[in-house]
Amino acid sequence: MKVCVVGIGYVGLVSAGCLAEAGNSVICVDKDEEKIAGLKQGTIPIYEPGLAELVRRNLRVGRLSFTTDLKQGVDNSLIIFLAVGTPSAADGSPDVSAILTVAREIAGYLREYRIIVTKSTVPVGTYAQVVEIIKAGTDVPFDYVSNPEFLKEGAAVADFMRPDRIIIGTTKAEVQEQMRQLYAPFMRKSRRLLCMHPASAEMTKYAANMMLATRISFINEIAELCEKLGADIEQVRQGLGSDSRIGPAFLFPGVGFGGSCLPKDIRALIHIGREHGVEMRIARAVEQVNLDARERFNGRIIEYFAGRHEKTTLAVWGLAFKARTDDVRESPAIYCISKLLDRGIKIRAYDPEAGETALARLGGGIDIFRNGYDALEGADALVIFTDWQEFRNPDFAAVAARLKRPVIFDGRNLYDPEYVKEAGIEYHSIGRPGQPV
Ligand SMILES: NC(=O)c1ccc[n+]([C@@H]2O[C@H](COP(=O)([O-])OP(=O)(O)OC[C@H]3O[C@@H](n4cnc5c(N)ncnc54)[C@H](O)[C@@H]3O)[C@@H](O)[C@H]2O)c1
Repeated sequence: MKVCVVGIGYVGLVSAGCLAEAGNSVICVDKDEEKIAGLKQGTIPIYEPGLAELVRRNLRVGRLSFTTDLKQGVDNSLIIFLAVGTPSAADGSPDVSAILTVAREIAGYLREYRIIVTKSTVPVGTYAQVVEIIKAGTDVPFDYVSNPEFLKEGAAVADFMRPDRIIIGTTKAEVQEQMRQLYAPFMRKSRRLLCMHPASAEMTKYAANMMLATRISFINEIAELCEKLGADIEQVRQGLGSDSRIGPAFLFPGVGFGGSCLPKDIRALIHIGREHGVEMRIARAVEQVNLDARERFNGRIIEYFAGRHEKTTLAVWGLAFKARTDDVRESPAIYCISKLLDRGIKIRAYDPEAGETALARLGGGIDIFRNGYDALEGADALVIFTDWQEFRNPDFAAVAARLKRPVIFDGRNLYDPEYVKEAGIEYHSIGRPGQPV
């Protein structure tokens, strides 16, 4: 099929690459000229496992092309995906202006029947707004589908290739069939393609993200209580997650969730609820508990070095909001580091992929190292913010030897406290008994 994807970020580029890999001809449109110029040369602007190979391969064989010219995409594609950003506005409401702008532009270019599909996360009712806008700009027939995306960064290609389910928000049978055909190559793991009203599709995405965020805040709240009561959150988590009604996913205590989706989508739900007279009490609590989780962790570090902040240097492992991505949007690491910098604490940081994006986001002010052990040299403690696989089994003797004092603050509970203690390292983690004071 001939497909156009508008908005070539984490979602757009992964979707385009995977659709091309399945044999479709995909035109990628973005307004960012530099990004498009780079992509034409095979320069991949983000880190996502498996993505670079996928994009370069499909670029080479001509199934994937890149342009800033939306008209070219609209003229040459039956199905047009919208994957532009929908960030939070200052009041927490979702800013759908990019979606509406693109809809207006598409209307101006429509010459033949097209199917317009929104992948971005948009508030319920956006489908009606987009349809109105396009109808106001053209008499050419078109159909609209709400098709929220559920991929997760760090495993985005795998998620797109083998999704748990695909949601198709349209009530028109023939459009459902077109979408079913487009997605057929990706439905080998699960044949679950759920067709529903576009409003329900839009709502499903927010509900899913709120559930995931709720689980993280829930386990963080239980972890806080564990610390007071002498229970071990790691044992509790395993006991809890092995209940088949509950399951183990998204029940990891830590510095809280970040990224470009969960925080903004929770804020959006709170805002949307208010606009419609529904106080989203759970969403508000989830957001607050999440903010508290990082404050509590950072507070422990700040208190530990009280009175000597300006003489303190910390080594940091992990800047990305989670492992296997270079994305630092709303990363707890970035938030905590900027608070530490405010107090005069110096930072020597390492992240396998997110060094550059973090430096850009912080506007400098920290030293980035190409190796985790180099970052430790002469630091007063090691702080872990991200659960990269390569941090899970370090050489503790080498860690202790490089630090001025062997202390670890672990915001992801990566280690067995007994094991770390035996290596002569003072170990602070989350929700476990016997924390050093
Ligand atoms: N990142 C994720 O893991 C994820 C997962 C599921 C859903 N989503 C949702 O998907 C959407 C996109 O997220 P993302 O993380 O890929 O965003 P992103 O910021 O990485 O990419 C958005 C892209 O859209 C482009 N763009 C903006 N306005 C444009 C316009 N008028 N014309 C052409 N291009 C334009 C930007 O230049 C950018 O390249 C959001 O609604 C997000 O909530 C994201």
